[in-house]
Amino acid sequence: PLQRTLILLKPDAVGRGLIGEIISRIERKANWHIAAMDLRTLDVATLERHYAEHVGKPFFGSLVAFMSSGPSVAVIVEGEHVIEGVRLLAGRTNPLEAGPGTVRGDFASVTQENLIHASDSEESAEREIGIFFPSAVRRDARVPA
Ligand code: CMP
Repeated sequence: PLQRTLILLKPDAVGRGLIGEIISRIERKANWHIAAMDLRTLDVATLERHYAEHVGKPFFGSLVAFMSSGPSVAVIVEGEHVIEGVRLLAGRTNPLEAGPGTVRGDFASVTQENLIHASDSEESAEREIGIFFPSAVRRDARVPA
C-alpha cells in the first residue's frame, strides 16, 4: 500500500554528519520519495507531544535532554510499504540488536543515541506528521492532541 511516515534524524545523526548517508539509503529505495524535510532544534513541548507514550518513564528526562541538544531533521517519506520499510532500514531500537546493513546496526552503539526515529503504524504516522508538519495533515485524518 502507498503510505507515508514521519522520520526524525536525531541530533547525533546531524552532529556526526550522517544526514546524507541516512537520507541516501531512503532515497534510493524504489517507489519512495521525500515529501517534506525540515531542520530544527526540538523544544520540550514538542518532545512531550511526540514521545507522549514515554512521558514518566525512567529514561524520559535523558531522552529529552539528548533530543533537544541540537538540531534534528524531520522528514515525511511517502511510498510503498514505507512504514515497515523505514523501520527495517533503521534496525532495532537497541543498536546491539540491529543487524548489519541497518542504520543503527552500522552507525550506532547505544539505545538512546540511535540516530533515527520512524513512525510505527499508520496512526502514529498521521499523529506525528501533525506535530512536525501541521500543514501536511490530511483533511480526513483524525489527529489526537
Ligand atoms: P525511538 O524509536 O525514537 O523511540 C523512543 C526513544 O527513546 C528510542 O528511540 C530511544 O532513543 C529512547 N529509548 C528507548 N528505550 C530506552 C531506554 N531503555 N533507555 C534510553 N533510551 C531509550
